[in-house]
Amino acid sequence: MKVAVIGTGYVGLVSGVVFADLGNEVICVDRDPEKLAKLRAGIPPIYEPGLEEVLKRVLANGNLVISDSVREATKSSEIVFIAVGTPAAHDGTPDLTAVTAVAHEIAAAIDKPTIVVNKSTVPVGTGEMVEQIIRTVGVPDANFSVVSNPEFLREGSALKDTLHPDRVVIGVSDSAAADKMVELHKPLGGEVIVTDVKSAELIKYASNSFLAMKISFVNALSRICEMSGANVGDVARGLGTDHRIGKQFLQAGIGWGGSCFPKDVQGMIAISELLGYDFQLMKAVWDINRQQTLHFLRRVEQRLGSLAGKRVGLLGLAFKPNTDDIRDAKSVVIIEEIARKGGKVRAYDPIAMDNVKRIHPNIEYADTAYAAADDADVLILATEWEEFRDLDPAQFKARMRQPIVFDGRRFWDRQCFVAAGFDYHTVGAI
Ligand code: UGA
Repeated sequence: MKVAVIGTGYVGLVSGVVFADLGNEVICVDRDPEKLAKLRAGIPPIYEPGLEEVLKRVLANGNLVISDSVREATKSSEIVFIAVGTPAAHDGTPDLTAVTAVAHEIAAAIDKPTIVVNKSTVPVGTGEMVEQIIRTVGVPDANFSVVSNPEFLREGSALKDTLHPDRVVIGVSDSAAADKMVELHKPLGGEVIVTDVKSAELIKYASNSFLAMKISFVNALSRICEMSGANVGDVARGLGTDHRIGKQFLQAGIGWGGSCFPKDVQGMIAISELLGYDFQLMKAVWDINRQQTLHFLRRVEQRLGSLAGKRVGLLGLAFKPNTDDIRDAKSVVIIEEIARKGGKVRAYDPIAMDNVKRIHPNIEYADTAYAAADDADVLILATEWEEFRDLDPAQFKARMRQPIVFDGRRFWDRQCFVAAGFDYHTVGAI
């Protein structure tokens, strides 16, 4: 099938590359010349395990073409995906400027039956808006169909998630477009849910909101565990083993971040408000998440007496492992709060350091995980990178002023640190 993907962020690039690898003729479009140059050279502008190899393969076999022209891409494709960013606007609603602009460009280029697919995360009703844009330009109804096809991939496992989705959601109003979309997704497996456009749009927000709610729930429980002497790891296990609840996304920590949950929880609240519903549950989910990081830092502060003049070794800067993405990363909140209270941070991350350096050039950065602990009064783990798993507590201790560790992801084995002489603290346990 001939497919165009407009926007080469996480969602657009990974989807385009996967569709190309499945044998479709794909054109990925972006307007950023730097990104285009990298992509043409086979270098993904984002870090994602396995992506470079597949990108190089589909460029070499010709299944993927990189372009800066929405017009050309639309003209030569049967299906055009809109996969541009929808960042949160100041009122929390998603900013649809890029979606609107691309919809206009696509509309102006349609000269034969074309399926226009919204893959960007957009509020319920956006499909109708895109339809209106295309109609206003004068494209006859018989020549286009607007579909909602939300994306559920996670950063760090984006290729795997795209190739093996739990479900494919197709929101559509005509059966011919539904058939084409089902055919395109057939090789991927997973349950195919064909529904109306508005329900598909809402499924995306509902999914991210629910996952964020699960984490905030377990994080709220972690506070009760700390107060009562229970252990949140065991509580989450006991809870998640009930199949109706499920084990995933019950890992207590210093809170959720990234480019999706914060934006989409905010979006869910703001969209509900516009529709006339006060989504108090999601407001609490948001608030618990904000408090979780601050509470963790209060515990560090209490243990040290004060953060003023103290040195903090910070391990992990990416919002989660296997990505260099630091958008809404809790590490950044930690860096800023510690600086505000007069402490000094020395940080290490396997791949996200350059991104943090751009916004915080004045903190110290270490070359290795161990070096982050040099002269530190406390070591904080903010991201559970697998390469941190087997680090030797004794080596940290030898470098630190005081052997105190705060494990923000419940990642390390308490006994290993205690045996090495550490005062070990974690989330949701005394
Ligand atoms: C999330 C969703 O999981 C994807 O399904 C969705 O497609 C994506 O957003 C999106 O909308 O584009 P992602 O943001 O890549 O994916 O990362 P997650 O693995 O969901 O993690 C999000 C945050 O939750 C991270 O900060 C992570 O550390 C935290 N988390 C996750 C926990 O604190 N505990 C958990 O049990 C799981």
